[in-house]
Amino acid sequence: MTLPIESMNTLRERRGKILNNVSPEKLEALHARGSYSARERIDALFAEGSFQELGMHAHHNAVSFGMAGRELPTDGVITGTGYIGDMQVASFSQDFQVLAGTMGKMQARKIVRLMRHALRVGVPMVAFKDSGGARIQEGVDALSGYGDVFYYNVMLSGVVPQIAVICGPCAGGAAYSPALMDFVIMTRHNAYMFLTGPEVIKAVTGRTTTMDEVGSAEMHASVSGNVHFIAENDEHAIALVKNLLTYLPPNNTEDPPHDMSVPIDEMEDQGIYDLIPGSSSDPLDMQAVIRRIVDNGQLLEVHAKFAQNVIVGFARICGMVIGVVANQPMVRAGALDMDAADKIARFVRMCNVFNVPLITLVDVPGFLPGVEQERGGIIRHGAKMLHAFASCTTPKVTVILRKAYGGSYLAMCSQEMRADMVYAWPSAEIAVMGAEAAVKILYRKEIEQATDRKEKAAELAQDYRDKFASPYAAASNFYITDVIDPADTRWMLALALRKLLGKRELRPAKKHGNMPL
Ligand code: HXC
Repeated sequence: MTLPIESMNTLRERRGKILNNVSPEKLEALHARGSYSARERIDALFAEGSFQELGMHAHHNAVSFGMAGRELPTDGVITGTGYIGDMQVASFSQDFQVLAGTMGKMQARKIVRLMRHALRVGVPMVAFKDSGGARIQEGVDALSGYGDVFYYNVMLSGVVPQIAVICGPCAGGAAYSPALMDFVIMTRHNAYMFLTGPEVIKAVTGRTTTMDEVGSAEMHASVSGNVHFIAENDEHAIALVKNLLTYLPPNNTEDPPHDMSVPIDEMEDQGIYDLIPGSSSDPLDMQAVIRRIVDNGQLLEVHAKFAQNVIVGFARICGMVIGVVANQPMVRAGALDMDAADKIARFVRMCNVFNVPLITLVDVPGFLPGVEQERGGIIRHGAKMLHAFASCTTPKVTVILRKAYGGSYLAMCSQEMRADMVYAWPSAEIAVMGAEAAVKILYRKEIEQATDRKEKAAELAQDYRDKFASPYAAASNFYITDVIDPADTRWMLALALRKLLGKRELRPAKKHGNMPL
């Protein structure tokens, strides 16, 4: 039997109209500013020929205010699945060329159908956001659509990785969908994101502001913390998505893609000595230490511009995927403040749900003292770290490089937070507080009565360091698994991790813990 030629023509015509809805002039203009069209984003994400669209012909049919006679190909969103390497991924891409990519009930239905597929099959979700927000003509239907999407964002949370790419406007309540996802990538020049923009802020508060001040990628990446990665353009954003997915499993029942074929050789790296400053009051560059320890010096830093006093990111160590958490003594001495605590707690929980082992590198003088910190709730924020590390059941290995004082020693995943192994370098100082501060409290009179007070304080501080704060003091009480030569760090970590990869830890059944927020 042959199909009637007219029906084939109709199919071709309909598909052609949908697939080529953007004029060549418009495409050229998009490319000139580093943007792709919605369909080009999908094409660039997936392996050629692997994308299958869901609901290509679905669109809004109701005749509502201002919509009669309007054609809305795909209802302003392309949804479907494809392959990145051998990993199936679900993706939707809002099409700004169709009524500004606005969200109505049908757009939401298409997205939700895709999210349910991702949930049932256990595949990551990548969302390209480029939209004028709720479709005004659809009124409460549009709001209901958003509500459904938010609900499924929450259902997917902790089951499959969710990545949002903000590559155009993302205004109003629409911004909550990316905020509910695991990672937010935002393009530097063509995107903005806010709940209320400059005009509304001016009308309500009288304050004049700019789009950059309240909604730019730079602001969100460095100040608000809403954005994890800045991309220079769409091409870069898609490259970041692909890179990120190389560190993650497709869902929470699987392990991340460890390459177990890499041998672990007992190899000393004496070059690491050059990174350790002579005096404990000189800062160590933790970025350099991390890059020395991980495979090929490659760290995919998450939240790189936010709370730079700490570092979090993905790397590999002898082929095994790891999440790295570290203090950065080059910024605010690596002390923990509210933003740093939020950054670490969020990353630790993300690693836990996706079974990524954690390596914590410690050089921390304490929680940052200050009126703003106390009034801002550093207790509540710091508690998030304790909650996150204690709740985390993936392999956890901690290395104390130098300082580990007070509550921050515990908050950086000490043995009591159930770190599986805690190693310390000989330069580690583990104590309630720094030696100088401690001797001032303990030996105030002796110091005051000394002929050379400075010399006396320094002498007592050294004595304190040797007797109370040395790693051997902690190791003698078995709070430390081993004191290791810094040159052995990489292979010791790799070997410990390889032995821990099969770790399974059961916790008491409960709905969920009540994390301080
Ligand atoms: C319906 C919309 C629309 C909207 C834009 N359009 N936004 N239609 N609902 N929200 C239409 C325009 O009328 C126009 O139609 C076409 O899309 C392209 O828009 P332009 O304004 O010509 O494009 P541009 O100059 O590039 O400006 C884009 C824009 C601007 C910055 C997004 O359109 C804008 O500010 N729109 C309103 C954004 C907004 O306030 N959204 C609601 C946010 S609140 P024609 O017919 O000319 O092609 C929200 C609540 C969600 O989303 C709550 C969820 C919990």
